[in-house]
Amino acid sequence: MNLVTGGTGLVGSHLLYELVASGQDVRATMRQNSQLEMVMKLFLWYDAERGQELFSQIEWIEADVNDVFSLREALQGVSTVYHCAAMVSFLPADRQQMMKVNVNGTANLVNACLELGIEKFCHCSSVAAIGQPDEGKPTVESLVWKTSSTNSWYSISKYGAEREVWRGSEEGLPVVIVNPTIVIGPGDTTRSSAQLYQSVKNGLKFYTKGVTGFVDARDVASAMVQLAQSPVVNERFILSSENHQYRKVFDFFAASAGVQPPKYFAGPVLSAIAWRMEKLRSLITGSKPLITRETARNANHVRLFSSEKIQKAIGFKFRPVEEAARNTAGFYKKFPELV
Ligand SMILES: NC(=O)c1ccc[n+]([C@@H]2O[C@H](COP(=O)([O-])OP(=O)(O)OC[C@H]3O[C@@H](n4cnc5c(N)ncnc54)[C@H](OP(=O)(O)O)[C@@H]3O)[C@@H](O)[C@H]2O)c1
Repeated sequence: MNLVTGGTGLVGSHLLYELVASGQDVRATMRQNSQLEMVMKLFLWYDAERGQELFSQIEWIEADVNDVFSLREALQGVSTVYHCAAMVSFLPADRQQMMKVNVNGTANLVNACLELGIEKFCHCSSVAAIGQPDEGKPTVESLVWKTSSTNSWYSISKYGAEREVWRGSEEGLPVVIVNPTIVIGPGDTTRSSAQLYQSVKNGLKFYTKGVTGFVDARDVASAMVQLAQSPVVNERFILSSENHQYRKVFDFFAASAGVQPPKYFAGPVLSAIAWRMEKLRSLITGSKPLITRETARNANHVRLFSSEKIQKAIGFKFRPVEEAARNTAGFYKKFPELV
């Protein structure tokens, strides 16, 4: 039996489809207020005929990573764990909760897996948990994370989570870690990277010169399953298809969604003004800021990623980012009520 934590999320739902469609037994964690509709529609998107039936094969179990008892129950009879439950946020108000879910939650799960003798633990980390390379060089797996005032709290939480997984590995848990760049795919457009499509669809006006890596959600799922089922242990792998300017990906989304792409350039100065104004607006209105100091910094940062390691280790091939954007836009065209 496989257990997927965070099965209702962007990565977790793609992983559920990958596992169920290949005939494997899957249990997935959910919480009291989790929305399963998105996952069901994702299954229908990838298999219009059998999607409903495949979806019904998932065994859902209520579990919170901060509730050790629920984790132990979810792990009964499980041999492989895919850990995708996490909080992805750049909002200052979410910092404390994000550390609790990402770091303490991962520690709880690792401890329960050690207790119950889980055979393989596949952890979804992030490139945010890897150190920065020298200027102009790509980020590779061996770079050690360094404390810096420019690290986002999300990055700190993902690094803390990875440390818990490495601790588990030292205590005898066979682990494999993936570090995806920005994941592109259909998901809940109010959270995580699925929000990018929503902002372009809603008429995003500004673009920046920032560059980063992007990867298709289907590739993240497929790489996680291949690694979990391989003899590879105690290694981490960057998952990234191509490095692009954010603008390029916004253009892909705009073309697929049939809307105008962002056309005004926002350099670091304009971005710095924008996040401060958003902070003020958010304080006055009580609504979430659309841009924060951390997202503004990321949007202007040039960072390249190399995925050579996984390509060499298991011969993994990534889909082009343009295909990922088309897949995402196609999904929301079929289910317009979800965007
Ligand atoms: N998206 C990206 O671009 C990206 C890039 C690199 C790495 N990652 C990593 O990939 C993993 C999955 O991210 P995602 O994009 O799929 O995020 P997501 O769409 O926001 O999904 C998060 C999942 O975690 C669950 N969750 C949150 N708090 C929980 C808790 N206390 N206990 C149990 N489950 C909880 C959520 O359940 P509910 O439905 O109940 O809220 C949801 O299923 C994360 O570790 C993230 O850091 C993502």
